[in-house]
Amino acid sequence: MLTHVGIIMDGNGRWARSRGLPRIDGHKAAEESIHEAVEYCGEIGIKYLTLFAFSTENWKRPKAEVSFIMFLLSRFIKRNIENLDRKDVKIRAAGRLDDLPSKPRADLDAAIARTESNQGLNLILALSYGGRAEIVDAVKRLTADIETGSKSAMDITEESITSYMYLPDVPDPDLIIRTSGEKRLSNFLLWESVYSELYFADTLWPDFRRKHLQEAFADYGARRRRFGDIGGN
Ligand code: IPE
Ligand code: IPE
Ligand code: MG
Repeated sequence: MLTHVGIIMDGNGRWARSRGLPRIDGHKAAEESIHEAVEYCGEIGIKYLTLFAFSTENWKRPKAEVSFIMFLLSRFIKRNIENLDRKDVKIRAAGRLDDLPSKPRADLDAAIARTESNQGLNLILALSYGGRAEIVDAVKRLTADIETGSKSAMDITEESITSYMYLPDVPDPDLIIRTSGEKRLSNFLLWESVYSELYFADTLWPDFRRKHLQEAFADYGARRRRFGDIGGN
């Protein structure tokens, strides 16, 4: 079963540099790959697609690059919202959204509100997202509930901690894909990825197409997930 796919969309800068272009051209070119991933996942009935678009650490980048990525977020929504809504895609977001500049934040909120009752693919944009930040934010809210007495320390279980994560209804990712040849999680979905299958593709994100996704899904299909059990052997 492939219910939830996460993608660490990496390699935009290198894609641009290898063509003698500024890094931001790589971020621009990423739109087509996002478009294709959303279309394909929707077509084959994947329920959740989480795209790691901007990490809590990415704020360290030069101001101009950060501003451009934020502009592209607004532009992506503006250009695609009509089509996504028509395709029954439900747009959601995970991360420290309060850190986003007001324009992309407002565009994101509007897209989320517009597609709220859609029943198709859940397209989750991980923005200003960090796995540790998510855990910190969950612990803060949990502690606040303990302080007001609505929760007791005795009630803390894995399930109750999960209920404080950004999107508690979303099942853990079955498969996490990272493009560009880097083999690390870079703070993506720490709590949720404990039993995710990991797939690393050398292709840079702007070159990542439907056929690469098909390869990743075929690879996933041949794996045996045991979750610590003996897996029928
Ligand atoms: C991924 O591509 C996009 C973001 C992290 C926002 P990069 O910008 O990290 O591209 P590389 O890794 O430098 O090639
Ligand atoms: C991870 O890529 C974050 C996103 C794809 C949004 P980075 O390019 O920021 O990761 P590192 O710095 O190579 O680990
Ligand atoms: Mg990178």
